[in-house]
Order: sequence, then C-alpha cells, then structure tokens
Amino acid sequence: MTCCCSFDDTAGRHFNDRIATRDLARYRTQGPDPTTRLLRDGLARAGQINGSLLDIGSGIGALTFELLDVGISHAVGIDAASSYVAAARQEADRRGRADATQFVHGDLLAVAAQLPSATVVTLDRVVCCYPAYQPLLAAAAQRAERCLALSYPRNLPHLRLAVAVENGARWVKRDPFRAFVHSAAGMDRLIRGAGFELSSRSGTWTWSADVYVRRGPRTSLSA
Ligand SMILES: C[S@@+](CC[C@H](N)C(=O)[O-])C[C@H]1O[C@@H](n2cnc3c(N)ncnc32)[C@H](O)[C@@H]1O
Repeated sequence: MTCCCSFDDTAGRHFNDRIATRDLARYRTQGPDPTTRLLRDGLARAGQINGSLLDIGSGIGALTFELLDVGISHAVGIDAASSYVAAARQEADRRGRADATQFVHGDLLAVAAQLPSATVVTLDRVVCCYPAYQPLLAAAAQRAERCLALSYPRNLPHLRLAVAVENGARWVKRDPFRAFVHSAAGMDRLIRGAGFELSSRSGTWTWSADVYVRRGPRTSLSA
C-alpha cells in the first residue's frame, strides 16, 4: 500500500486515543518504560539534567516529566500524534507542570523553524517511527545546545525480522504506519558530524539508549 497521507495523519491514526489512554495509564501505574529510564539515568550520569529540554516525539510526556523531576527547568514536547499531545497536556495539568511545559502538535520537520533550541534534546523511541532518520536527527542536533539523547531499536537480524512481520500485519490492516530499524553506525556518524561525542550507551536486549554531548561550544556551522 502506498501512503498518501502526511506523517501527522499516519502517526495520529496509529497512536490514537485508545493507545494514548493506555500508555498514560501504564505510566501512572508502573512509571517510565525501560528506554525512558535509561535515557533519564544516562543524562543524569552525564550531568545533563539542567536547563531546558526539547523532547521530540514526546508521546504522553513520560521522559519530559521524568527530566523535570530531576532538574530540567522547562520543556517543550512535540509529537505528530494529536492524541499523545492531548494526553501529555492532561498529565502536565495533573502534575502541576503546566507552567513548565508546552506540548506542540506536528511533524518536527514541518514545524522545526518555530521550535526553540534547548540545552538538551531527546528522542525516545522516535527515529524508529520515521522513514528517514537523517533530516530528523539533523534538525534535532541543530537545536541541541549541549546534549542530544536518543533511544532506538538495535540493528539485529531477529529485530529486523520482527519489525518486517509487524509492518506486514499493518499492510494487511491498511495501517500506513511503518516501523524502521535504522543503521546505528549511520546515526552515530551523523550526530558526531554535527559536533557531538558519545558520552554513554546503555540498553536492553532490544533497545539502545545513547547520550551525546557537544565537543565544544555550538558554532554557526552547527547551529
Ligand atoms: C513509539 S512513540 C514513543 C513516544 C515516547 N517518546 C515514548 O517513548 O513513550 C514515537 C512517537 O514519535 C512521534 N514522532 C515520530 N517522528 C516524528 C516527527 N518527525 N515529528 C514529531 N513526532 C514524531 C510519533 O508520533 C510517536 O508519538
């Protein structure tokens, strides 16, 4: 099936109200998922939990709220799925974090020019939802003043197979959403080329969670 929709449409249809309600309930009862915990803890170990945050593909806002709780002062979250944005705003109100957060709806690549730079930029399980990691990571790196952290599925044969099977099931159900296992080496090259060095890499059997820190001050070339 060929996709005729914008990424917002595709993401909105896939990450719908039911999924957002389910994810928010899970976060409230069980706390953050493993990749969210790994990124939060990796950023803390690297001393990168102060200043501002831009959380790309923020979902219900789990990583945003976790980082606000440990030292980040204010945060902008952006997500292409409107149900996730609504759930994140609801959770911000519930936690008394509405003044410290702004949740924006849209595809990062469509609204990037309107988004501020931030001390820390995060993408928790986001690159695997987007066909082209290059423009996504380039836009993220451009906005990261000091630190860029991301989680993504490890590029292993059995994971590629599992993702292919899931994508096949989506094709059958006429769901235009697709997941991707991108090249870890390619993403690493791009981020290093934007002026960062790897500070830590942790993970689970299936996910890698990487924290990159700028090698020096941001220059006009990297900004
Ligand atoms: C698997 S969910 C993860 C949500 C959250 N970060 C978490 O770990 O719970 C991936 C999210 O990334 C968002 N996303 C992917 N590419 C995006 C883009 N280019 N702009 C905005 N959001 C994007 C999707 O809409 C989706 O909500």
